[in-house]
Amino acid sequence: MEDRYGHWISYLRVSITDRCNERCTYCMPLELQEWLPRQEILSYEETLRLIRVAAELGVSKVRITGGEPLTRRDVVQFVRQLPQIHGIRSIGLSTNGTLLARQMTPGKTMASALRDAGAQSVNISLDTLDPAVYWQITGRNFHAQVLSGIDAAIAAGFEQVKLNTVLMRGRNEDQLLPLIEFAAARNLVLRFIEMMPVSTREVLNESSFMSILEAKRLIESAYGSLIWETEFRTNGPAAYYQIPGRAQRIGFIGAMTNLHFCETCNKLRLTCDGKLRPCLGSYLEFDIMRPLRAGASDEELKQFFLSVVERKPREHDFRNNYRPNRKMIAIGG
Ligand SMILES: C[S@@+](CC[C@H](N)C(=O)[O-])C[C@H]1O[C@@H](n2cnc3c(N)ncnc32)[C@H](O)[C@@H]1O
Ligand code: SF4
Repeated sequence: MEDRYGHWISYLRVSITDRCNERCTYCMPLELQEWLPRQEILSYEETLRLIRVAAELGVSKVRITGGEPLTRRDVVQFVRQLPQIHGIRSIGLSTNGTLLARQMTPGKTMASALRDAGAQSVNISLDTLDPAVYWQITGRNFHAQVLSGIDAAIAAGFEQVKLNTVLMRGRNEDQLLPLIEFAAARNLVLRFIEMMPVSTREVLNESSFMSILEAKRLIESAYGSLIWETEFRTNGPAAYYQIPGRAQRIGFIGAMTNLHFCETCNKLRLTCDGKLRPCLGSYLEFDIMRPLRAGASDEELKQFFLSVVERKPREHDFRNNYRPNRKMIAIGG
């Protein structure tokens, strides 16, 4: 699938729930109290069919996300179906990590059950090592659980475990170096992400926004000039750097300040209520649940995918005073 601007679409980010057990300030609107009713959420069977159709069109990578994907019942059984889909070669999950250490059966954690089911990589959100600040950011007291979840993911033997940190001035700029040391001690890739305007809470403003350039400067003042790894990519928008004198790799995702951010975009998103979104930072979304439930053939669904790709914008709208019509929690990050 190629769009009008030469983006080849090979990556589908699939949200399986709008629900979450945390309340991150930058993701969840305060006024959102009710979750979508069950019948408005794609069943696992419907989701798997859409992934199969997308795979037939050249999608080879899926990332399961939410809300918090691990709060949805039978998520392990769902993940187990993904490697069966012809063409899907890379299966990842994004999670807040709170449930990864949960015991599923004696001696088996959620993390190892997901690994056995075929998930290859897991991205875990961690914005701070300070439990009190963690609570302020997420509205929940789950810091220790997340640290156990990270250990459980490492023990489960994923091919890759990455940590994601959203940059917030006044909240976690003092945490960048401790987080780098935390990641180094566990041999994990850490990525710093610029905050994007995807929540209605007034959390993103000039005083709270921290650019990747500022983060990089701060890190370089402690470690020396970072070495850009031009050749290293993970199918996503991060730019990776090596810390001098170490094997450690850190990434920066600068959707707001990197003017070339969208040039290599290879992604489509499927929301849990069956909307295809060609871009996270655009108002465009297209309801594929309706034709799906009205009995569309695979061929018709393929045409639907192609028509969405045809409308993929050149770049996101975040820099144009963007006001989200949907929140991150309801899109799937
Ligand atoms: C929406 S979450 C869904 C998966 C899971 N609940 C989690 O927290 O990782 C996916 C990612 O989006 C990030 N995210 C959420 N809101 C954001 C925002 N306003 N700007 C930048 N990243 C954001 C989160 O930090 C997380 O790494
Ligand atoms: S970032 Fe993840 S954990 Fe935080 S509220 Fe959004 S979905 Fe939940």
